[in-house]
Amino acid sequence: MAIRVFKSSEEASRALAEYFVATGNEAIAARGRFAVALSGGSSPKKLFELLAADYRDQLAWDKVDFFWGDERYVPHTDPNSNYLMAKKALLDPLDIQPAQIFAVDTSLSPSEAAAAYTRTMQRYFDSENSLPLDLDLLGLGDNAHTASLFPHTSVLTDESVSVQALYIEEVQANRVTMTAPLLNQARATVFLVYGEGKAEAVRQILEEERDIQRYPAQLIQPENGNVTWFLDEAAASKLTQK
Ligand code: 6PG
Repeated sequence: MAIRVFKSSEEASRALAEYFVATGNEAIAARGRFAVALSGGSSPKKLFELLAADYRDQLAWDKVDFFWGDERYVPHTDPNSNYLMAKKALLDPLDIQPAQIFAVDTSLSPSEAAAAYTRTMQRYFDSENSLPLDLDLLGLGDNAHTASLFPHTSVLTDESVSVQALYIEEVQANRVTMTAPLLNQARATVFLVYGEGKAEAVRQILEEERDIQRYPAQLIQPENGNVTWFLDEAAASKLTQK
């Protein structure tokens, strides 16, 4: 695991953009495609806009396939949709084609959407249980959740390599999320976390004893150990070791 701390969220986002492009070029050279699971929320917006603005020529974007580590169970036109944010900030500006976009179908029921997404990934990787994304881009909530792996929820102990749907009391909404075993198959995993408000959650994940019910992001322990935290100084401010 690596922890990289930057003066600002802009610097952290730019460093992650460099990492994203380097990882993508490696994947495309090795396997012809770059399969990336995007995170949602607001943190990655800067990164997406940066990639679309400054890295258009640094990666064969027509060879990048986009998945989501989790999705809010809302229409794709809803302002809370992780898909919509990525579409506006990244996919449309880079003219990403529909065949490269694997969005959660929230027109189905939550459980059908999750089952359909699991099948989509199994078809993409031509396997039931080996679904190794090239890159997982993850965020962190101030309650130490990542993707939609929220504290004290049933999905935390789900050992299946799959996508699940659940109602999250804490946010009073249905979510669809990759399970930790699926996320942990990724070849590379990054967290992009910035702001003082996340500092305690970052400390909990990285320095507290393992307690996945309280600190779900501790579940993210990629099988190959390749995880990098991109933090600004504010988010790293409560870490005792940097
Ligand atoms: C989501 C995300 C979630 C997010 C964190 C941080 O759908 O909300 O996937 O895991 O990364 O909640 O969100 P912010 O970046 O908005 O703080």
